Amino acid sequence: MTTVLVVIPTYNEALTIGKTVERTRAAVPGAHVLVVDDASPDGTGALADELAELDDHVHVLHRGGKQGLGAAYVAGFGWGLARDYDVLVEMDADGSHQPEELPLLLHAVENADLALGSRYVPGGRTVNWPYKRQAISRIGNTYTRLALGTGLRDATGGYRAYRASALRELDIDSVASQGYCFQVDMAWRAIRAGFRVIEVPITFVEREQGESKMDGKVVREALLRVTQWGAVHRARQLRDLVGGSRR
Ligand code: GDD
Ligand code: MN
Repeated sequence: MTTVLVVIPTYNEALTIGKTVERTRAAVPGAHVLVVDDASPDGTGALADELAELDDHVHVLHRGGKQGLGAAYVAGFGWGLARDYDVLVEMDADGSHQPEELPLLLHAVENADLALGSRYVPGGRTVNWPYKRQAISRIGNTYTRLALGTGLRDATGGYRAYRASALRELDIDSVASQGYCFQVDMAWRAIRAGFRVIEVPITFVEREQGESKMDGKVVREALLRVTQWGAVHRARQLRDLVGGSRR
């Protein structure tokens, strides 16, 4: 039997973490949940501890302070790999990623190394997302696709399922991406490693409670890193092309 760990990073998600864990447990009763909390001032970590006490499928990893989404996932994945789960899932705590769609991702990753929940393939969509956020996301994805030549429609999304065997090869301890560009970083690593990456349509629903942690720093880091990865990639392509024509 395949064992599944759903990793949910949290920073000030006290209003939604209970519901998200409950919906996840109901949608896929066999799955385990790991909440990775960065010492949220609103008490999310204590709430998660209460959930874990009532349910042996719920676990909590406490971190010292807000260190970014990427760092939280690296820690959560390390926790899950050390415990030999077969599939590791990323999911937001705020209800934007619907636990009821998790079976679709789990089904897809049976025949892939990484299944990306995608808002921008046919059948995928966003609900109630402010125009400005949609624009940032669309532009970010287009820029990423052009810079890296990946063909992925939604490389920045945060609802996805990895085979543990693939994750082990991706050298997550070397991931320097702190913010949301962690998502692009991981997709790019998977593609370069030759893994099978597929996109599954999802419906992303804007949160109704709490606030986004996206800020200018997150956007700047993503822009800088994607540009750097793109430059290295294009330089390699050019080198191969020149080298190839000499032969
Ligand atoms: N532990 C921890 N530490 N969790 C964090 C941190 C952090 O520094 N920053 C954010 N999170 C958690 C939030 O609490 C939430 O559960 C999840 O990460 C996503 O954060 P949001 O702030 O809700 O993200 P968003 O809605 O603006 O962005 C969504 O779209 C992005 C772009 O497509 C998310 O789905 C992102 O994953 C995605 O990259
Ligand atoms: Mn959100």
